Amino acid sequence: MTTQQDRHTPLNGRWLPDTAKFGEYRTFFSTAVRNPSMVGAATPTSGAVAATVAQVVPTTGRPVVVELGPGTGSLSGAIHDRLPAHARHIGIELGDDLVQHLRRHQPWMETVHGNAENLHTLLTGLDIDKVDAVISSIPWSLLTEEVQQNILRQAAHVLTPHGSFTALTYLPAQHSAGGRRFHRRLKATFDEVITHTTWRNLPPIMHYICRRPLG
Ligand SMILES: C[S@@+](CC[C@H](N)C(=O)[O-])C[C@H]1O[C@@H](n2cnc3c(N)ncnc32)[C@H](O)[C@@H]1O
Repeated sequence: MTTQQDRHTPLNGRWLPDTAKFGEYRTFFSTAVRNPSMVGAATPTSGAVAATVAQVVPTTGRPVVVELGPGTGSLSGAIHDRLPAHARHIGIELGDDLVQHLRRHQPWMETVHGNAENLHTLLTGLDIDKVDAVISSIPWSLLTEEVQQNILRQAAHVLTPHGSFTALTYLPAQHSAGGRRFHRRLKATFDEVITHTTWRNLPPIMHYICRRPLG
């Protein structure tokens, strides 16, 4: 039986027809084909992943949340839905087609066309010195150790004392050399590293939720 949920897609708290979802997949997939190592995935992550990720988002005050690699925004709607008025939601995305897509479909997000490797400089340009949550779904396991370390250091540095850093990776990637290296780097960067698996995604997603930067 077809239900309302089958035919429509939640985005920005609204239900959009499947044509919007098709456009999102087309943009994502064509970027992934042209830049497989930048995107590191063939399709956007599922709503089940987004619902779990959004739980770290503060619902009070004037929080600042930064997404690294929002892609077509498959996590952004759930994040946005939890944010209170006067919050700031920044998306830092490397792919120019994806940036255009985000600016058109997620106008409430401050989308920056840039590289997560320049996180500190990009935030300074936006007059931001502290961040309540960094949520990253860039292809961590494909990055060199130096790049992993560089981005993690900057993310840890900008967090407020109660801030959280979230990284998503594909579950199978945790067994790759890059995935193991990333896990070690997280443990060396944060005092608390909690893991959670979302099985309702193909392939399943590993969440790392980290707090209290060390050093
Ligand atoms: C696996 S996709 C995740 C997209 C989306 N957040 C999702 O969950 O479906 C990775 C995204 O990170 C972006 N990306 C990769 N490296 C990046 C970097 N160094 N800085 C910013 N974005 C990056 C890619 O262009 C892509 O949109």
